[in-house]
Amino acid sequence: MTQIRAAITALGGYVPPDILSNADFEQMVDTTDAWIKSRTGIETRHILKGEGLGTSDMAVEAVKQLCIKRKIEPNDIDLLICATVTPDHQFPATANIITDKLGAKKAWGFDVGAACSGFIYALNVGAQFIETGKHKKVVVVGADKMSSIMDYTDRATCILFGDGAGAVLLEPTTEAFGIMDAILKSDGHGRHFLHQKAGGSVKPASAETVSNREHFVFQDGQPVFKAAVVGMAEVSAEIMEKNKLTADDIAWLVPHQANLRIIDATARRMGIGNDKVMINIQKYGNTTAGTIPLCLSDWEGRLKTGDNLILAAFGGGFTWGAVYLRWAYTA
Ligand code: UT7
Repeated sequence: MTQIRAAITALGGYVPPDILSNADFEQMVDTTDAWIKSRTGIETRHILKGEGLGTSDMAVEAVKQLCIKRKIEPNDIDLLICATVTPDHQFPATANIITDKLGAKKAWGFDVGAACSGFIYALNVGAQFIETGKHKKVVVVGADKMSSIMDYTDRATCILFGDGAGAVLLEPTTEAFGIMDAILKSDGHGRHFLHQKAGGSVKPASAETVSNREHFVFQDGQPVFKAAVVGMAEVSAEIMEKNKLTADDIAWLVPHQANLRIIDATARRMGIGNDKVMINIQKYGNTTAGTIPLCLSDWEGRLKTGDNLILAAFGGGFTWGAVYLRWAYTA
């Protein structure tokens, strides 16, 4: 039987217009532009401002763009999966809100929560529906409004994150393009180092949780950094070895954008030069589930049919993984 693979056939990306620069942070917390740049590589982040605007609004913009590029209507979408840790509401799923705002009447949808690995997890889930022949058009969104859960008095964490959304369209192909392999991992022992302490069923919102600032991102940076350096680098090397890929075979590494030092360590472990690494952390910071599709969207014009890409991420959970895909079109 001919194998059906899930190929990315269109991309969309959106970041809101308002910007928080390192100079702005110098006025807000005890930090410097030099510290932020040297420790993280970040210079600016985009922030979604405006009453009543949430993650779905950025996602809608990214999906609209993708529909225009592929010349399809929202009604052509069969399934929409949204990876996010900042859903519009605890429920319903943000995917449902996105499809409603788009007018994608035929689509069903759900959210995937895997923090910074959310996009690659969701990409793999979406690919299954294409590979089994169940669906013809699956949209996978990675979107986060991190500013909504940021403690802007915590200098070690607030300088890292920004808002943004990226989206990909998956369609079937019988050619040797699309998602070729994936290795996904998780380890719940890491959950205490990066999480949101309150607002879930274990610790519902109360006046006390609000005054203790427990609805913001809590991160113990050092252990997360150490686990990320090892986890992202090792899984990227593992997927290369498993698929007999050398550094010369790789056109692009598409890494989660959490810290330039983590990205550099991954590229070094894979033996590939910086010229093959997609890096936009300086512009957007860490947009959590948004980073990888935003990279793809920014680099779309440079991607060529047959390019071998490795997507790699590490995040809260801990969750991590790598995806090997062969690019299906030249824009
Ligand atoms: O995407 C999800 C996964 N998340 C990550 O991958 C993030 C992983 N962690 C990191 O990227 C890094 O740990 C950070 C960027 C968060 C921190 O960098 P670091 O090199 O690990 O710094 P550190 O936490 O060891 O702190 C070094 C010093 C400390 O001061 P002392 O104790 O040496 O006096 C901090 O208090 O830097 C201080 N510091 C700051 N100084 C100026 C922490 N944040 C800041 C700041 N500005 N914004």
